[in-house]
Amino acid sequence: MAKQLPITTLGMDILRKKTVPVTKADSKLIHLVENMFYTMDHASGVGIAAPQVNSNLSVTVVDISTIEEHKKEKPLVLINPEILESDGKIELEEGCLSIPDIRGMVTRPEKIFLKYMDFGLKEIKIELSGFLSRVVQHEVDHLNGKLFIDYFSDEKKKEIRKELNRIRKGKITTDYPLLIHSDN
Ligand code: CO
Repeated sequence: MAKQLPITTLGMDILRKKTVPVTKADSKLIHLVENMFYTMDHASGVGIAAPQVNSNLSVTVVDISTIEEHKKEKPLVLINPEILESDGKIELEEGCLSIPDIRGMVTRPEKIFLKYMDFGLKEIKIELSGFLSRVVQHEVDHLNGKLFIDYFSDEKKKEIRKELNRIRKGKITTDYPLLIHSDN
């Protein structure tokens, strides 16, 4: 049975660390991925990365099919993903389950050429564009300890500073369970 895991919140070290590559496709990995899908769905997210469920493995899952205009897009399990090439530039609004209530415009490449492994640790290469490309880029950043707020202008960072501090202290309400930094 899949479990809903608490989502790590801004301020937790694991969100700032580079993940380690998966080398074994065992039942532990399968359970992690099942729990990640379950946790993402119950938080109404379109993507979640392993550090967000307190795991240091290079794994992310993405499912944008809950959005009407993307309902034909299949869910993706990306193991050890790496962006090989990117092209174009587009500004889109983003949010993150680990930084509740914060949204902001982020400029990223439009298209990406991605390398990842499937459950059998077989290497796959795909080209992605549009919203799916955007979500995957956000999630691959998580696996490298990077968060979408890092792209904000100094002005915007200043504007949301107090709100970010509230989030770090866990002074927020979400309809999904959170894991807060224990020193706060
Ligand atoms: Co995120």
